[in-house]
Amino acid sequence: MAPISNERILDLISHNAAQTQRWGARIGELAQPGDLICLEGELGSGKTCFVQGIGRGLQIIEDINSPTFILANEHRGGRLTLYHLDAYRIRSAREVLGIGLDDYLDSGGVCVIEWAEKILEVLPADRLWITFRYLGESKRGVVMQAQGARYEQLLRDFKTSTFGG
Ligand SMILES: Nc1ncnc2c1ncn2[C@@H]1O[C@H](COP(=O)(O)OP(=O)(O)O)[C@@H](O)[C@H]1O
Ligand SMILES: [Mg+2]
Repeated sequence: MAPISNERILDLISHNAAQTQRWGARIGELAQPGDLICLEGELGSGKTCFVQGIGRGLQIIEDINSPTFILANEHRGGRLTLYHLDAYRIRSAREVLGIGLDDYLDSGGVCVIEWAEKILEVLPADRLWITFRYLGESKRGVVMQAQGARYEQLLRDFKTSTFGG
């Protein structure tokens, strides 16, 4: 069945972790230098699972886990460097100034942020925003929202490569 969508929004249901990872891998394959992917959703909703897929799509070999004790993990060795951030423990915008988000974005890598809603005020307006929702043991809602021309293109390419033209 064709997913509900318009130019900027793609509303999906994932039926298992492998499917979520596959969608992440598609995004990883399509990613360009400087791309910003923001992930929102409660614990266990599939954010890290999706990032593992992005890593696979970028041909990164090492394991990807949530950066629990540091703010960001850098994964090199793939087509592009993956900067994996987790804002779970961030409490104030002031703390975020130390992240160096702009440096990551300017460095030509791909920046993926879990719990991005916690640092909304310091994020660039243009981004791919993905909201995960727990719907059942292995069922997750995945809503992708493109903000800005680059991400509308990315979303179009994702739809084409995932569901056909
Ligand atoms: N459809 C699904 N998509 C993603 N993860 C799923 C799905 N079904 C079950 N899971 C499981 O849910 C958990 C998601 O954990 P994780 O990706 O670490 O979530 P988060 O980073 O949002 O806290 C994993 O154990 C994964 O195997
Ligand atoms: Mg996580």
